[in-house]
Amino acid sequence: MPERDIMRSTARGFRRYYNPEIGDELRMDTNTNVLGPNPAAEEYIRGFRGDISGYPNTYSDGLRDALAGLHGLDRENFVAGNGSDEMLDVAFKTFTEWGDGCAVPVPSYTLYDYFVRVNGGRVLEVDLTEDFQLDVDAVLRQKARMTIMPSPNNPTGNTFRQKDIEEILSGSEGMVIVDEAYVEYASGSMISRVNEFDNLIVMRTFSKAYSMAGLRVGYSASNPDVAGMMNCVKIPYSLNKLSEGAAIAAVGDQSFIEASVGVVREQRPRLAEGLRRLGFEPFPSDSNFILAKCPVDHAELVSRLRGKGVLIRDFGSKRRTENCVRITVGTEDLNGIVLGKIEEVVSECRSK
Ligand SMILES: Cc1ncc(COP(=O)(O)O)c(C=O)c1O
Repeated sequence: MPERDIMRSTARGFRRYYNPEIGDELRMDTNTNVLGPNPAAEEYIRGFRGDISGYPNTYSDGLRDALAGLHGLDRENFVAGNGSDEMLDVAFKTFTEWGDGCAVPVPSYTLYDYFVRVNGGRVLEVDLTEDFQLDVDAVLRQKARMTIMPSPNNPTGNTFRQKDIEEILSGSEGMVIVDEAYVEYASGSMISRVNEFDNLIVMRTFSKAYSMAGLRVGYSASNPDVAGMMNCVKIPYSLNKLSEGAAIAAVGDQSFIEASVGVVREQRPRLAEGLRRLGFEPFPSDSNFILAKCPVDHAELVSRLRGKGVLIRDFGSKRRTENCVRITVGTEDLNGIVLGKIEEVVSECRSK
C-alpha cells in the first residue's frame, strides 16, 4: 500500500473503527444504556449558563472531587478525560516505550491492539482459557511492560476472578490496567485497591451504566503518583466544561444507575433464555450484553437483522469467537422485538 508510506510506520496497518451507516435502527450493538439519556446530565445541560468562552478546569478538578466522594478516595487518585479511550491512550503514552511488549487477552476489547501499536508497542496476545478466564501463568510469562484486561470482559461478558487479577498485579513488574467499563453490572471492583498496588490503573467510563456515551467522559483511578504522571502526559483541557458538569451531576444521582443495573440484571437471563430457545449458545455474562454462538451463519444473521432494523455486533470472523455475535441486553419490550426479529431471520436462513 505505497500511499501509506507517509504514515507513521506503526499506524500503516490501521483501518477505520466500526462506523455503520445508521438510520433509526435499534442499536443493540454498542452496549450503551437502553433506558435513554442520563436524566441528571440532561437536566444539567438544558440549564447550562456557563461561560463557554473560557477553558474548562485544566485537570477537571470538580469531577475528580465528585469521584473522590463517590469512591472514598482522594482527588489525586484520579485522571479524567474524553472517554476511557483517552485514558487508555494516556496510560500507554505514559508508561510504555517504543518496542515494549504489552499483554492483551484474546478475546478482549478490539481497541487495545490499536492503543498498544499506535504508541509503538508490540501486542503480546495471551489467549483466555476455555471458559474465558485469565491464564495467569501465560500472562506473567510475557514479562510485559503493560498488561491490560477488561473485567467484565468485552466481548465475552464475564468477570475475571479477583484472585487471578491480584496474582497478575503482584507478579508483574510492569503496569496493569483493569478496565472496568461494565463493572456496575457485575460485582467486585479493584477501585478500592488502588493505593495498595503501585502498578494498578483502574479505568472507568460514563458511557455505559451512566448513559452518557455522547458526552465522552472517562477516568482512571490509581495511586496518586501514577495519576500524577498520567496527568502530566494527558492533553490539558481534554474534558470540556459541559461534559464535566454533566458528569458531576450524574455522579450525584445514583438512583438512575441502580435502576439501569436493575433492568440489566432482570433482563439478562431472559434474553439468554430467549436466545437459547432459538438455538443460540449464550455465554454467561456479568455485563449489559451477551455473547452467543449462532445457530446460522453469523454474517448472514447480522446483515439480515440489519435489514429488519436491528443492529447487533458481529464477532464471528474473529479467533475464539467463531460464529458469535454480541447483543446488548434491552428492556423487556426491546428484547421481545429483538428476539422476534432474530426468530424470523433464523427461520429465513434455515428455509433457504
Ligand atoms: C472494555 C471497554 N473499555 C473501554 C471502552 C470505551 O469507553 P469510552 O466510551 O469511555 O471511551 C469500551 C467501549 O465500548 C469498552 O467496551
